[in-house]
Amino acid sequence: MAAPLLFVPSDPLAPRVPDEHFAREAEAARDAGLAVAVVDHDAVVAGELAAALRRVPASDAARTAWYRGWMLSSSAYARLGSAAETRGIGLLTSPAAYAAAHELPGWYGTFAGSTPASVWLPWEPGRTPTSADVGPLIEALGDGPGVVKDYVKSRKHEWDEACFMPDLSDLATATRVVARMVELQGDDLAGGIVVRAFERFVSDAGGRAQEVRVWWVLGAPVLVTPHPDAPAASDVDVPADVLDAVGRSVGALGAPFVTTDLALRADGVWRVIEVGDGQVSDLPGGQDPAPLLRALAAVG
Ligand SMILES: Nc1ncnc2c1ncn2[C@@H]1O[C@H](COP(=O)(O)OP(=O)(O)O)[C@@H](O)[C@H]1O
Ligand SMILES: [Mg+2]
Repeated sequence: MAAPLLFVPSDPLAPRVPDEHFAREAEAARDAGLAVAVVDHDAVVAGELAAALRRVPASDAARTAWYRGWMLSSSAYARLGSAAETRGIGLLTSPAAYAAAHELPGWYGTFAGSTPASVWLPWEPGRTPTSADVGPLIEALGDGPGVVKDYVKSRKHEWDEACFMPDLSDLATATRVVARMVELQGDDLAGGIVVRAFERFVSDAGGRAQEVRVWWVLGAPVLVTPHPDAPAASDVDVPADVLDAVGRSVGALGAPFVTTDLALRADGVWRVIEVGDGQVSDLPGGQDPAPLLRALAAVG
C-alpha cells in the first residue's frame, strides 16, 4: 500500500512551499517516502475549504493523510477532514479521535489514574465567570493548590495571574485567576474551563516541572523528546514499566498519533501532565524529526 500523504501548512508568503517552521519535517517526510502537500492554514480556520486544499495535486487523491501543523480547534480539524474527503483523501486521525486526544475532557477518563484530578465546565469565550460558577466547579477538588487552563492550553507564562491558585478554598482568589485566564484566552478559549489539582513535580532551576514528551504512533512509543519548553529534561529517562502503563492508556484512547507529556512527581511517581494529538504537538527545535516521520510513513 502507498505511504500516506503528509499535509503541512504553507508559507503565508510563498504559498507553494511548507511554512519554515515545518520545512525540516517536510524534508524528513519526503526522505521517509511520504508525499508532502501544503494546506492553507488560514483558509482551514476561516472555513474556506476549497481554498484550503487547492495546492494538493489531484494525483494525490484517494489516499490517506497525516497532518503536521499549527494547532487547530477540533471544529477546524473537522473542516480539514471534510475538505480532504471532497478530494478523496481520508485523514488517518478522524475528527473524533483528534478531539479525544486534543481536549482534556476527551482524554481525561482514559488517563484518570495517572494524571492530576481535574474538573471542567463548558464555557463561551468572552463571558466572565463569577464565584457562583467557579465555586460549584472546584468543590470536588477540595482544598489545596490548583491550576486552571482551557480544554487545550493554559496561560502558564502568566502563572500567578491566570494559571496558579495557591488555595482552592480561597474562592475569591480562585475566581479572579479563572476569570483572568478566560479574559486572556479571549476568542481563542478552547471548549471551556479546566481546573486541576496542583501536584509537586521535580522541577528545573526556573521552578517549572521537567517534562518528557513521548510520541506514540499506533500505540508504540516511536520517539522520546524533551518538552519544547524545557530542553533541560533531555537526559531524563522514563522507566520501561511507566512507558508500558502509559502505552496501555494511549491504546485505549484510540487516537493513532498521540503525545504524552510526563513528569516525575516529587514523591517519585511518574505522572501524565498532558495528552495531545501528535499532529499538532511541537518538536523541540534541535530535534531530528526523521524517526517520527519514518514511523508515520510506515502506516498504510
Ligand atoms: N496539575 C498540575 N500540577 C502542577 N503543575 C502543573 C499542573 N498542570 C500543569 N502544570 C504546570 O503548568 C504547565 C502548563 O500546563 P499544561 O497543562 O501543560 O498546559 P499547556 O497546554 O499550556 O502546556 C505544565 O507544563 C506544568 O509545568
Ligand atoms: Mg503543556
